[in-house]
Amino acid sequence: MATKLPLLLLLSSTLLLITVASLHRQPTLQTYIVQLHPQGKSSSQFASKHKWHLSFLEQIMSSDDSDPSSRLLYSYRSAMEGFAALLSEPELESLRKISDVIAIRPDRRLELHTTYSYKFLGLSPMGEGAWSRSGFGKGTIIGVLDTGVWPESPSFNDQGMPPVPNKWRGSCQEGQSFSASSCNRKLIGARFFIKGHRVASVPSQAGIIPEYVSPRDSTGHGTHTSSTAGGSPVAMASVLGNGAGEARGMAPGAHIAIYKVCWFSGCYSSDILAGMDVAIRDGVDVLSLSLGGFPVPLYDDSIAISSFRAMEMGISVICAAGNNGPIQNSVANEAPWITTVGASTLDRRFPAFVRMGNGRFLYGESLFPGKHALTAERQLDVVYVTGGDEGSEYCIEGSLMRSQVRGKIVVCDRGVNGRAEKGEVVKKAGGAAMILANTEINLEDDSVDAHVLPATLIGYTEAIQLKSYINSTRRPTARIKFIGTTIGRSRAPAVARFSSRGPSLTNPSVLKPDVIAPGVNIIAAWPQNLGPTGLPEDSRRVNFTVMSGTSMACPHVSGISALVHSAFPNWSPAAIKSAIMTTADVTDHYGKPIMDGNVSADVFAIGAGQVSPKKAISPGLIYDIRPDEYVMHLCTSGYTRSEIFAISHRNVSCSEMLDRNRGFSLNYPSISVIFRSGETRKTIKRQLTNVGSPNSIYSVEVGAPQGVGIVVRPRQLVFRRINQTLTYRISVISRKRIGTLPASFTQGHLAWVHKHESFYKVRSPITVSWMNRKS
Ligand SMILES: *[C@@H]1O[C@H](CO)[C@@H](O)[C@H](O)[C@H]1NC(C)=O
Ligand SMILES: *[C@@H]1O[C@H](CO)[C@@H](O)[C@H](O)[C@H]1NC(C)=O
Ligand SMILES: *[C@@H]1O[C@H](CO)[C@@H](O)[C@H](O)[C@H]1NC(C)=O
Ligand SMILES: *[C@@H]1O[C@H](CO)[C@@H](O)[C@H](O)[C@H]1NC(C)=O
Ligand SMILES: *[C@@H]1O[C@H](CO)[C@@H](O)[C@H](O)[C@H]1NC(C)=O
Repeated sequence: MATKLPLLLLLSSTLLLITVASLHRQPTLQTYIVQLHPQGKSSSQFASKHKWHLSFLEQIMSSDDSDPSSRLLYSYRSAMEGFAALLSEPELESLRKISDVIAIRPDRRLELHTTYSYKFLGLSPMGEGAWSRSGFGKGTIIGVLDTGVWPESPSFNDQGMPPVPNKWRGSCQEGQSFSASSCNRKLIGARFFIKGHRVASVPSQAGIIPEYVSPRDSTGHGTHTSSTAGGSPVAMASVLGNGAGEARGMAPGAHIAIYKVCWFSGCYSSDILAGMDVAIRDGVDVLSLSLGGFPVPLYDDSIAISSFRAMEMGISVICAAGNNGPIQNSVANEAPWITTVGASTLDRRFPAFVRMGNGRFLYGESLFPGKHALTAERQLDVVYVTGGDEGSEYCIEGSLMRSQVRGKIVVCDRGVNGRAEKGEVVKKAGGAAMILANTEINLEDDSVDAHVLPATLIGYTEAIQLKSYINSTRRPTARIKFIGTTIGRSRAPAVARFSSRGPSLTNPSVLKPDVIAPGVNIIAAWPQNLGPTGLPEDSRRVNFTVMSGTSMACPHVSGISALVHSAFPNWSPAAIKSAIMTTADVTDHYGKPIMDGNVSADVFAIGAGQVSPKKAISPGLIYDIRPDEYVMHLCTSGYTRSEIFAISHRNVSCSEMLDRNRGFSLNYPSISVIFRSGETRKTIKRQLTNVGSPNSIYSVEVGAPQGVGIVVRPRQLVFRRINQTLTYRISVISRKRIGTLPASFTQGHLAWVHKHESFYKVRSPITVSWMNRKS
């Protein structure tokens, strides 16, 4: 998805011009999001916010124009004050001059970035686990902004669910193939927001699969993510026999509300804002967003802005970090009030070995079901079609000649087109089976698919061996040996290669991503209008399929946030995030460091580590943050008064605020220290609140990063009561001479360990960066 982004962006802006040109005579109308002053002077003169918002259009449109209300797409009041409208360039200029208009931003296209994962994360439905202590997320409402939902999926069965919470204000919006009775006590609400998408795309883009104009999911992504967060238990779930077991979401007791904001052409910020706006009023407790774009400054980021409102209302916002790894600085959704989630692997494998004609074996993985795979288990000719300019090495549609591939095993390189699509191309050309070969970009990534023909995925090292074997002989042959599902035989979790990495481009003073969670080969619910590959030609039907991405990692953390929220309904989003971060694991199931490829993962890949729901329910101590502390943090990060106003709707004087709070540091559960030229010492303050047992003594344990000395005062925290808050200070002294070295960073950690109950260990990663120039 990462490599496709620029192309798709280009495509969609071209389409935008075509659509608008055909709909309206002026060829230059575009969707803009207009942010207004929340206490706008003129607002009191109007009977409603909607009328007020319309008045801006009336002021700037010429009288012979169409009805202003036809230009207004959305009126926002909870996620942001303002509206989305179709505007021309001259209208934009007039609008900028009107007081009460504080920012105008073009609509932005963003992208969509488990039978087994709950067991892997240490949750068991039996006995006294964290799950039962939290009531399985009972009473909590998770809002999912995504591609919609397939309500008939057994994962949204409401058997055993408690009634809809009284505070729920949402609705079940009717639409194409979706009625009010599609909702139940599990799926308590569903809405769709399509206006921004409509302006920006032409209907033919939808292709062969019809796009339901309703909350119904036509692409599967939203059904998958929402069932991962809060799906009901389903016995004997599998993908065509693979990975069989009971499927259930992380918080099977939670209610789910669906906000469909993503369509075939992507997710437009005007639609996302509309979804957030409604979700905040509806009364959700957690918002799950498996989508995002390139990092942009917080004051230009509609997700950052609307999630600030959500956070103020006590709603936890959980977002995917993005799939642009392993490139540094690629992490998206990095606002400090958001929980940003990277992806890790499970210890579940689907081995399918390649036995080459020379007798050597190559390790591969496949979800293709055994019984149809028999052809591939026979020795067949193997072919890798290179040369020519049609992309035959990638198995691009139309690039493979029947005479070259018929009855053979075809090798296809990853990249350019979709993994499952390559399988369809090989099948159509008459190939018997496919070996999907990772390239240098993917290395050993093992994101498998339910291919339409027998297929296996091999790593980069294996791909080199296979290709040199093919080169070395006149008639290369191979067979694929399908093993099925194996669990626990490999090192996991490890960082998914595609998981976006920190440090944050826009705000390096907060470590991002915050945590990692399972995001590779996740099995979850799937619609009935699609086959398991999601390809239009795939006529198979399944209730579950496998997907990979930080999109799949995010709803795991949304579900865990719901578990913590159920256990502690009064906790702030910051407290819930702290509980999840300070209890995360930094070692894998063998007790060794979490790996990232062939090296130990650094904090910019894993943040605080792999989520551990069992421990997150009993964190012992938490780092809490009040909304105005985020505003102070924006002050210390150098944002201007108007930028801070756009984000927070608070008109503050940073100098006064920081004067009153000397030595302020954001009470974040991780610690980032940046030394710029001339700086050698930094002192940071943190505050811990006791949520464990009264009379608890904690002592500090420090793993100092290289190149610095660390002094923590005091070294012991003695809590007498629950809810008691104590402060400590960390002094970081640089031993490096700045200016001579290139920018660099080191990492370490700090943990508060309970003197008697070693279960309580409150751990924070520390990063120290040296920057050469003021940047
Ligand atoms: C999918 O779920 C439905 C509803 O529970 C069930 O009737 C159907 O048999 C399931 N399909 C498969 C392939 O398991
Ligand atoms: C296979 O042979 C071709 C042509 O001789 C060469 O370009 C290519 O690099 C070889 N590939 C491998 C993996 O040895
Ligand atoms: C790890 O993999 C990279 C990329 O393939 C390679 O360049 C490097 O030498 C490997 N390092 C170790 C320690 O094996
Ligand atoms: C913020 O307050 C200052 C001083 O009180 C005022 O001049 C300014 O117009 C205000 N800005 C906004 C956006 O309300
Ligand atoms: C701690 O504070 C919370 C929220 O203010 C409150 O609900 C709870 O009862 C307090 N617990 C104790 C033991 O004081």
